[in-house]
Amino acid sequence: MKSVYVFTLGCQMNVYDSEQIVRLLHPLGYSSVDDPEKADLVILNTCSIRQKAFDKGFSFLGRIKKRKKDNFDVIIGVGGCVAQQEGENILKRAPYVDFVFGTSAIHRLPDLVRRAENGEKISDTTEDGEVIETGGNPNLPDEITPSGFVSIMRGCNNFCTYCIVPFVRGREKSRDPNDIIEEIKRRSLKGMKEITLLGQNVNSYGKKDDMPDFPDLLHMVSEIEGIERIRFATSHPKDLSDKLVDCFKDIEKLCSHFHIPVQSGSDRILSDMNRKYSVKHYLQRIEALRKVCPEIELSTDIIVGFPGETEKEFNDTLSLLKEVLYDNVFAFAYSDRPGTRAQSFENKIEDAIKKERLNNLLDIQNEITKNKNSAFMDKTVKILVERQSFTDNGTLVLNGRTFGNRIVHVEEPLSTLFENKKFKGEIIDVQIVKTLGHSLKGRLSEVKS
Ligand code: SAH
Ligand code: SF4
Ligand code: F3S
Repeated sequence: MKSVYVFTLGCQMNVYDSEQIVRLLHPLGYSSVDDPEKADLVILNTCSIRQKAFDKGFSFLGRIKKRKKDNFDVIIGVGGCVAQQEGENILKRAPYVDFVFGTSAIHRLPDLVRRAENGEKISDTTEDGEVIETGGNPNLPDEITPSGFVSIMRGCNNFCTYCIVPFVRGREKSRDPNDIIEEIKRRSLKGMKEITLLGQNVNSYGKKDDMPDFPDLLHMVSEIEGIERIRFATSHPKDLSDKLVDCFKDIEKLCSHFHIPVQSGSDRILSDMNRKYSVKHYLQRIEALRKVCPEIELSTDIIVGFPGETEKEFNDTLSLLKEVLYDNVFAFAYSDRPGTRAQSFENKIEDAIKKERLNNLLDIQNEITKNKNSAFMDKTVKILVERQSFTDNGTLVLNGRTFGNRIVHVEEPLSTLFENKKFKGEIIDVQIVKTLGHSLKGRLSEVKS
């Protein structure tokens, strides 16, 4: 048996794609290992969303280069969004790389790897417009985790002016709903309980292809036996329909969490970003969500220091954070991406100011998140246990998430009550005994009482 190590950067889409990469290579005799030093084939799945992510890919390659010197048999492949963007340039910049495959080439990977095994240097960034049949071979042994991702669409048509995704993932295309349902059923039969449906803008699922729309798909998924929790990401505010809002009332399995990227609290900046909604529209959507599901947890993405962002416009974003009171915020300093419209915008903001704004915003949000977390003190919550381990001194450690999206760590001193018990994959009651900045600490309710 040969071994493959996949190093994944970027978003959940890439995590999903990496899982498919491993599945696709299985029939070629490759099994997955978690140490690049031991692998016959090393694959880097890249991200290009910000310069930092782009650079991280090359620094991984710099580290792995040494292996090529030590062992001529190791094969190195580079896939993902940087691969799509840079193609052959990667082979020039890092000549020890054997093959490059773009985001549309994943299903051609078995052929590419066979050719690379025969010493061919390849760059395949052809966009065939296919939504890859990522279901793979159902007979293959899946490594089933309690919670997993399923991609329901590819690409993006929105062309937000700062964003590279439409350039590296191509045009939006929805996957056949039956195919999605089959894949989820297969996973649920093997014990998966939670599914996160993935797309750059799930709200436009099916729209152009005369298929069920996204709320219809959610209803279909909710009928799958064994699946107890459903999540999705990401949702564009401009397309958030009332029909989707109602799903939070009608679908019991739909987790009470909504990630709804706002990007900025200023209408002028939103317009320059080509986001196609106003702050007012956004706030109305939040209100509608909270009306049908008052306990809904909200998270968002923010970009600070977009070209031309004034101090006042930045303050408008801070005001929005204080008004919405998100449970979690992912904030980024604007990063110029090649080929995007914003790259040619004037009035770029200095790095030092971007950094200062980012820190300022994070300070405010950390306080909000901390306060929201502290409301969970002493409460009993249901978590799906995603990981279970024992420390050296015998403490049982469980990690999981609430029905919203809070991370909970449980630590229990060794006890005969659970010594041989399997918690991983179970939904259990946990009593919160401590609240932290970004997570909660709990004890097993049944053991305590
Ligand atoms: N499709 C998702 C987002 C995908 S990218 C959506 O529309 O919400 C994830 C996040 O990265 C974006 O929401 C944005 O906040 C951030 N991002 C994208 N391009 C960026 C750039 N050039 N600089 C800084 N942050 C960026
Ligand atoms: Fe990028 Fe905008 Fe598409 Fe999201 S919706 S992937 S931010 S272009
Ligand atoms: Fe990065 Fe590509 Fe995802 S650019 S964020 S890995 S779609």
